[in-house]
Amino acid sequence: MSDVINPTQPKPPEAAVPLKPLGKVLAVTSGKGGVGKTFVSANLAAALAKLGQRVLVLDADLGLANLDVVLNLYPKITLHDVFTGKAKLEDAIIRAPGGFSVLLAGSGMVEYSRLTPEVRDDFLRIMSGLVPHYDIVLLDTGAGISDVVLFAVSLASEVIVVATPEPTSLTDAYATIKVLVGQQKRQNIRMVINQTARLGDGRAITVQLQQVLDRFVTTEPGRPLKLLHMGDIPADPTVRQAIMRRQLLMQSAPSCPAALAIAQLALKIEDAVIHRGA
Ligand SMILES: Nc1ncnc2c1ncn2[C@@H]1O[C@H](COP(=O)(O)OP(=O)(O)O)[C@@H](O)[C@H]1O
Ligand SMILES: [Mg+2]
Repeated sequence: MSDVINPTQPKPPEAAVPLKPLGKVLAVTSGKGGVGKTFVSANLAAALAKLGQRVLVLDADLGLANLDVVLNLYPKITLHDVFTGKAKLEDAIIRAPGGFSVLLAGSGMVEYSRLTPEVRDDFLRIMSGLVPHYDIVLLDTGAGISDVVLFAVSLASEVIVVATPEPTSLTDAYATIKVLVGQQKRQNIRMVINQTARLGDGRAITVQLQQVLDRFVTTEPGRPLKLLHMGDIPADPTVRQAIMRRQLLMQSAPSCPAALAIAQLALKIEDAVIHRGA
């Protein structure tokens, strides 16, 4: 599947072109920023680790990395040092409080917020080396449809689009999905609706979004786009408290409504993504 890279981009050398997305890599992305990607990635990783899965979270929001802040980690070595050849990949992977591994971007990564052939090569090299060591790799990507976000997503076999019920988040989710279908020929996109007010809101939103996509987005014959609703996460004041204290919700308040929703989501992801290929 050579179409995982935006065909309008200059092609990197042959060896660097991903022929197909790497296995069991799940990109967590969104149209709009601030919808909860990092919160979901970190806590979903903790929930999957609790189920016994070996999980790595990679901070792929290169320009605005903040997984370190959410996890209260101060790594000496980051992805930046690996990119620049100052450190070995193994030394940049650290243990997060929730029992999973993380590869943090570090502040120096802002220079990688533009997609150059070097960034593509580095990313691909690092990812290919990492994937075989884990049951699942989560990519906490940036928002929107910049080249670097789309490239990070193109490395993933599975995509979760996080959106909130706000109209602005939904229109941006729609735009992102449209690009993922057009450029990456995605057929299945998983949806998580975060910060819902009532039970069932998320599913209704996914259904609505599917209807708009069916009307306005052209797919190849016989390859319809399917949004797969993976779950709702309720708006929950405990989330903010956990983030303020820089703790994982799954650890500090495992029985609050948002944590229970993430535990459910982990079971679904385990089933659909990890067990599927086993
Ligand atoms: N389910 C939720 N309930 C309440 N607040 C939430 C919830 N999810 C996220 N938030 C708030 O949204 C903020 C942004 O989340 P974050 O994960 O950093 O977004 P992103 O990575 O998409 O930019 C969090 O700091 C938190 O305060
Ligand atoms: Mg984030």
